[in-house]
Amino acid sequence: MKEYKIAVLEGDGIGPEVMSEALKVLFEVAELEGFTLNFENGLIGGAAIDACGTALPDETVDLALRSDAVLLGSVGGPKWDKLPPQERPELGGLLAIRKKLNLFANLRPVKLYPGLDELCPIKPGGKTPAIDLLTVRELSGGIYFGQPKELTENEGLDTMIYDRKTVTQIMHEAFKIARLRSKKVCSVDKANVLRSSILWREVAEEVSNEYSDVELSHMYVDNAAMQLILNPAQFDVIVTGNLFGDILSDESAALAGSLGMLPSASLGDKVHLFEPSGGSAPDIAGKGIANPLAQILSAAMMLEYSLGEIAGAKRISQAVEKALADGFRTGDIAGSKDKVVGTREMGEAVRQRL
Ligand code: NAD
Ligand code: IPM
Ligand code: MN
Repeated sequence: MKEYKIAVLEGDGIGPEVMSEALKVLFEVAELEGFTLNFENGLIGGAAIDACGTALPDETVDLALRSDAVLLGSVGGPKWDKLPPQERPELGGLLAIRKKLNLFANLRPVKLYPGLDELCPIKPGGKTPAIDLLTVRELSGGIYFGQPKELTENEGLDTMIYDRKTVTQIMHEAFKIARLRSKKVCSVDKANVLRSSILWREVAEEVSNEYSDVELSHMYVDNAAMQLILNPAQFDVIVTGNLFGDILSDESAALAGSLGMLPSASLGDKVHLFEPSGGSAPDIAGKGIANPLAQILSAAMMLEYSLGEIAGAKRISQAVEKALADGFRTGDIAGSKDKVVGTREMGEAVRQRL
C-alpha cells in the first residue's frame, strides 16, 4: 500500500478548527482509495512563538523537508501584531517557510459553485456570471522579498524587484496550466509605471513564444481590479506578481462568495505546501463557525499536486459540491433563507458524501 508523510501545521486562529475537518476527510479518503497518510504535527506562527519563542522552529523546517507535502492552516492574530516585523507570524513564519521551501508559484482557483449564485455580488445585466478562474501568483519574489527593506522612525522602505529567472519560471507555470484549461493567460502588471513590471511584460512575451497554442494578453493591475468586478467571466488564468496576486485573489474569492471557499497550492522545488488563501480570521476564531471548505479543498489539491492521488482529489471536490448542493452552509456562505451549520457539521457533511 502506498504511504505518504504529511507535515500538518495548523497555526493560529481558525487554523486548528478547519484543519481538524480536513484531516478527518483525508483519513477517510485514504481508506476509500487504499493509501496511507502519516500525519505529523509541527508548530508555526503565533502558536510556535508562544511555545518556543520563534515563528518557524528548525524542527518544523526539518519536518517539512522530510515530508511528501505540507498542509498548513493559517498564521497570525492581534496577539502577535506588536512584535518587530521579522518576528511576527506572517514574516517570521509564513514568508520564512515559503523561502525555505522555495515556494515560487501559488495557485488560487476560484469557482462559483452551483447553488451559491446568490452570494456572487456581481451580476452584469442581472445574470450571475460563470466564474471559474485561477490566479497564478508569483510567491518567491517581488516586493515581499526585495532588498533593501528598512523601517526607521520616519521612513518605511520596501523594494519591488523581479529578475528574468523568477519571471520566466512563473510564466512557464502559468502557460502549462493554461494548456489544461481554456488556453488563455492574462498577465497582470503595472508596466506603465514600474520597471519591475516592464521586465515582467517583456519576459511574458518571450516565454509565450514557446506556447503558440496559448493566447497571452496583458492588463494593468488597476484595470484588472476593475475588470474582475465588471466582467469576471472574461478571465481564466491570471498570472501576476506577489503583491498584486495577494490582492486580486482575495477580490476574486469574494466573487465566489467567501474567502472561506478559496484553497491554494504553493509549488516549490521539491516539497509543496497547501493552505487556504484566507487568514486566521480572528473575528470568528474559537467559535466553531468557520468554513472548513478552503482547508478541505487545499487537502484535495495536495492529493492532486503532491501525491498524484487524482481519484482521491476528485472524490473530495465532488463531495464538497454535493454537500453544497444538499444545502449545507456555514455562516459566510449562507443566503437569507439558508440553515446555517458549524465547522464540524460542514466537515461531516463532506465526509458522508465521499
Ligand atoms: P482573514 O482572511 O483572516 O479574514 C478576512 C475575513 O474573511 C474575515 O471577516 C474572516 O472572518 C473571513 N474569513 C476568512 N476565512 C474564513 C473562513 N474559513 N470561514 C469564514 N470566514 C472566513 O484576513 P484578516 O482579517 O485581514 O487577517 C487576520 C489575520 O490572518 C492577520 O494576522 C493576517 O496577517 C493573517 N493572515 C494569514 C494568512 C495565512 O496564514 N495564509 C492569510 C491572510 C491573513
Ligand atoms: C496570503 C497572506 C500572506 C501574504 C500574509 C499573511 C503574509 O495574506 O497568503 O495571502 O500576504 O502572502
Ligand atoms: Mn492574502
